[in-house]
Formats: sequence, C-alpha cells, structure tokens
Amino acid sequence: MFNKNSSVEEIINLNGSVYLIKIYSPEIAKQIKPGQFLNVKVSDSLAPLLRRPFSVSNVEGDYLFLMVNLLGEGTKILTSKKKGDPLDILGPLGNGFNLDGDYELAVFAAGGIGEAPFPFVYKTIKGAKEIISFIGGKTAKEVVEYGIENPYISTDDGSLGFKGNVVQLMEQKKELLSSKKIKIFACGPTPMLKAVQGFAAKNNYECEISTESAMACGFGICQGCAIASAHQSEKYLLVCKDGPVFNAKDVVL
Ligand SMILES: Cc1cc2nc3c(=O)[nH]c(=O)nc-3n(C[C@H](O)[C@H](O)[C@H](O)COP(=O)(O)OP(=O)(O)OC[C@H]3O[C@@H](n4cnc5c(N)ncnc54)[C@H](O)[C@@H]3O)c2cc1C
Ligand code: FES
Repeated sequence: MFNKNSSVEEIINLNGSVYLIKIYSPEIAKQIKPGQFLNVKVSDSLAPLLRRPFSVSNVEGDYLFLMVNLLGEGTKILTSKKKGDPLDILGPLGNGFNLDGDYELAVFAAGGIGEAPFPFVYKTIKGAKEIISFIGGKTAKEVVEYGIENPYISTDDGSLGFKGNVVQLMEQKKELLSSKKIKIFACGPTPMLKAVQGFAAKNNYECEISTESAMACGFGICQGCAIASAHQSEKYLLVCKDGPVFNAKDVVL
C-alpha cells in the first residue's frame, strides 16, 4: 500500500487553479479502481505534516493522473513539483464506484474539482453503458472539461453554459433521463451532494456519491473522517475506509 516508487512526470494547467499531474507509479496504476484515492505526502519536511488525499483522475499504462485544485500549502507544493521529483504515495485507498449493475444510463454529476474522478469512470464504462455528464462550477474558471465527452455545463454566475447549479441543470434536462434505468454517480461539495441525494431519492434513481472529509491516516486508524450513517445498526462510517464512495441511501450529509 505504501508506494515510494513513484515520481512526477508532467504537470499541466487545465483551467484557472486546476492542474493535471501525471505520475509514474506502475504498481498503483495496476491496482487502482475508479473512485479510489491516494494519500500523498507532498513534502519531505514536517510541514505540512499530514498527507493530502486525491482521487485518481485517470490511468494510462504505468501512469496515474491527478486533477488538483490549488487551494493551500499542500496543493501549492504538489503543483510546483518538477519532472522526476519522487512522490511518496499511499494507495490505492478506499472503496470506489460500483460500475456494475443493470442500469442502462450512467449519469455523472460533478461539482467543481468533483470532476476529478470522472475521466477514469468515463473511460471504464464507455461502450458498456450510455453516459450523460453534468459538470457544474461557480464560474467558467472552475469548469474543467478534461476526459469527458460532450458534458452539459452549468455555472452559478452564468459565465459558461446553464446559469444555475448542476442539480437545477439536471432537473431542466430531465427528459433525457426519463425512459432509462438510471444510475447517478456524483462527486462535489457536500451541499451539492445533498441536493443530488434528494434528486435521486425523489426520482427513485440509483445513486452513488463520492464524499469528502478532512483526513489524517487515510486507512481507518485515526477515526478522523467519520460521516453519519443513515442506518441504526451503525452510527458512523469512515470516509477513508467505508467510502469515499457510498450508496446515497447509506449516509446522512
Ligand atoms: C477522498 C478525497 C478525495 C479528494 N480528491 C481531490 C482531488 O481529486 N483533487 C483535489 O484538488 N482535491 C481533492 N480532495 C481535496 C484535497 O485533499 C484538499 O483540497 C487538499 O487536501 C487541500 O490541501 P492544501 O494543503 O492545499 O490546503 P489546506 O492548506 O489544507 O487548506 C487550505 C484551505 O482550504 C480549506 N480546505 C482544505 N481541504 C478542503 C476541502 N476538501 N474542501 C474545501 N475546503 C478545503 C481549508 O479549510 C483551508 O481553509 C479530496 C479530498 C478527499 C477527502
Ligand atoms: S482518515 Fe484516519 S480513519 Fe479515516
């Protein structure tokens, strides 16, 4: 699970503060599944102390791709790395999306950097299922169209695509979702996931959501990433170990 045989191959700016980081990591690339994540030690020094979790955005041969939004100290160090810099990565971690099943239409709902896991999901099910993608951001600068074909786009300020949020856009395009057996796959900020959860429940769609939480260990030891369970049999679930992807019916957001 610890993988030190990894190094940065290339970093490109996709849009605004979002970067695509290509990483040579043959062992993890062989094992990782869509929706799983890595816990990355961004620096050899003590600061920042904790690893930073990132979804795997894509896999090509021996290479992994991360889609990283430059936010604070950790992502600043990570996106400033150079070709050949070694990376200390822990992974694959968590449970990814369950892409099997008898649904006919996969609906992707991504908010902001929540688009990160979808290129890998898209590549994995393309050809096997029909796919419709919805990508939302606050502004055009937050929308990244990497690795997904022909997405419907929304922005809160109307600077690109539909003016409104991604769930409002899905409501508007509901005729596209009416005649098929649907499964929604969602990733984004918690308020968005909550709205998607409600939309899926209202329409009786299957739905999986990829959740976020502050993390330390990344594999179930520190209990720092608890999320409330929707079932009485257990009070909490751990985002790092039981998730980050959950059936939308299993968690309270
Ligand atoms: C399972 C999982 C998968 C993730 N996948 C990705 C991914 O693919 N790409 C990506 O860019 N990010 C992803 N994240 C979020 C990413 O881990 C954080 O953005 C990153 O740790 C921030 O580190 P930093 O040191 O740059 O910011 P920090 O210095 O730690 O924080 C800077 C500021 O941002 C706030 N902040 C930190 N994390 C978040 C967050 N998750 N959401 C909102 N505000 C936050 C802090 O409170 C602080 O105000 C994922 C998180 C989880 C739990
Ligand atoms: S991050 Fe430590 S238990 Fe989840």
